[in-house]
Amino acid sequence: PENVGILAMDIYFPSTCVQQDALETFDGVSKGKYTIGLGQDCMAFCMDLEDVISMSLTVVSSLLDKYGIDPKRIGRLEVGSETVIDKSKSIKTWLMQIFEECGNSEIEGVDSTNACYGGTAALLNCVNWVESRSWDGRYGLVVSTDSAVYAEGPARPTGGAAAVAMLIGPNAPIVFESKYRGTHMSHAYDFYKPNLASEYPVVDGKLSQTCYLMGLDSCYKRFCNRFEEGEGRQFSLSDADYVAFHSPYNKLVQKSFARLLFNDFSRHASSVGKDAQEKLEPYAGLSDEDSYSSRELEKVSQQVARPLYDVKVQPSTLLPKQVGNMYTASLYAAFASIIHNEHDTLEGQRVLMFSYGSGLASTMFSLKIREGQHPFTLTNIADVMDVSSKLDSRHVLSPEDFMVNMKLMETLYGAKDFISCSDHNLLRSGTFYLTQVDSMYRRFYAQK
Ligand code: ACO
Repeated sequence: PENVGILAMDIYFPSTCVQQDALETFDGVSKGKYTIGLGQDCMAFCMDLEDVISMSLTVVSSLLDKYGIDPKRIGRLEVGSETVIDKSKSIKTWLMQIFEECGNSEIEGVDSTNACYGGTAALLNCVNWVESRSWDGRYGLVVSTDSAVYAEGPARPTGGAAAVAMLIGPNAPIVFESKYRGTHMSHAYDFYKPNLASEYPVVDGKLSQTCYLMGLDSCYKRFCNRFEEGEGRQFSLSDADYVAFHSPYNKLVQKSFARLLFNDFSRHASSVGKDAQEKLEPYAGLSDEDSYSSRELEKVSQQVARPLYDVKVQPSTLLPKQVGNMYTASLYAAFASIIHNEHDTLEGQRVLMFSYGSGLASTMFSLKIREGQHPFTLTNIADVMDVSSKLDSRHVLSPEDFMVNMKLMETLYGAKDFISCSDHNLLRSGTFYLTQVDSMYRRFYAQK
């Protein structure tokens, strides 16, 4: 099969959210800490009506419906998530309800888990399947979904929630350059979920930032090497029209793009232009380790990278800034933002993608955009995702209500025998929601 990649996409995020500037005031932190310091505008969160299963049901049924895909045409379905509901029963099996109703129980794939990387693992599995000898001619379907919540403290404003679905097959408008991948995996305790009685992770925030940047450096070097082997010429940021990052919070994305520019400078100083070269020259001799802790380098490289950031990265930041960290869905929400903002002019462009999951697993890969055929065109994908109206129709709740909800969610985590109690009016029509968990911990959902 030729041009294997993403044929169609849809995104769902809860319509309930809290503003970061209101949270700053409520938390009593200095003004600008979350909005400028972290670079975040707003944060979506699930009420007791929603979870990763309901969000996945919503996004999958919406994708099949809006692109007119017969559920029998799906041959592989993979879910990436790090949100634990049932430790052994995958979210994928929940989604089988949609397909079994239509007489299709022959679908390979289960869930993939490693912090925010699971969605990428699921995506690469589906792409590899379509490109392999075991492909049966049907579509792959990938779902990335998480509800990201943190205990009270500095990490709490970096939560978020969403589900992204992607249809995979040949002749796609969004094509994988499968030969050019850079992967870096390693053992680290930067973020993990050892306490199964709580939904919250144990997180070493500072370590997770450094691990992220080390993964980024290593993946970029390997990606560049693969590209250079394949194309016989040097790769630099000028070969990428857009760069989308896993986006825990926008400040890290700004730092990451600056770090890529510093990589270009270190590899081939002339590739960054004269002005940038002069400004970065004082840091040329820094060891890798010192370069991660140099605040000066961080500042200077961010400043030098700013004009390129505005062109190549800014279009990907809409949903991550408005919805928050969506864990496995974060990178794909960043990519969805590029489609939303730039769908008219994307043909022929290359998008560089960086996926990071703590613990740690990271991969950089690239996508090439080409003209598709209806319904699989960039314009149609943007129409279906309908990002603006989803953002505009949200309900902004107060930080007080957000706190009350977080407390409620803590009591319901791992609980049985309850009926969900939040207001259905806050859900958009078509949304699946949790109605009840019975005495055997079995969950029941309905569609609004
Ligand atoms: N105005 C403007 N900027 C401010 C203000 C203010 N009033 N106050 C603070 N800042 C800036 C700081 O200078 C800093 O920016 P800098 O790094 O450019 O200097 C930034 O805000 C963050 O402040 P810090 O004090 O450094 O960190 P904080 O204690 O707020 O914690 C952290 C931030 C570590 C990201 C925390 O939110 C966290 O642990 N999050 C979860 C972990 C995470 O997301 N890791 C990323 C990769 S792994 C993953 O995806 C889960």
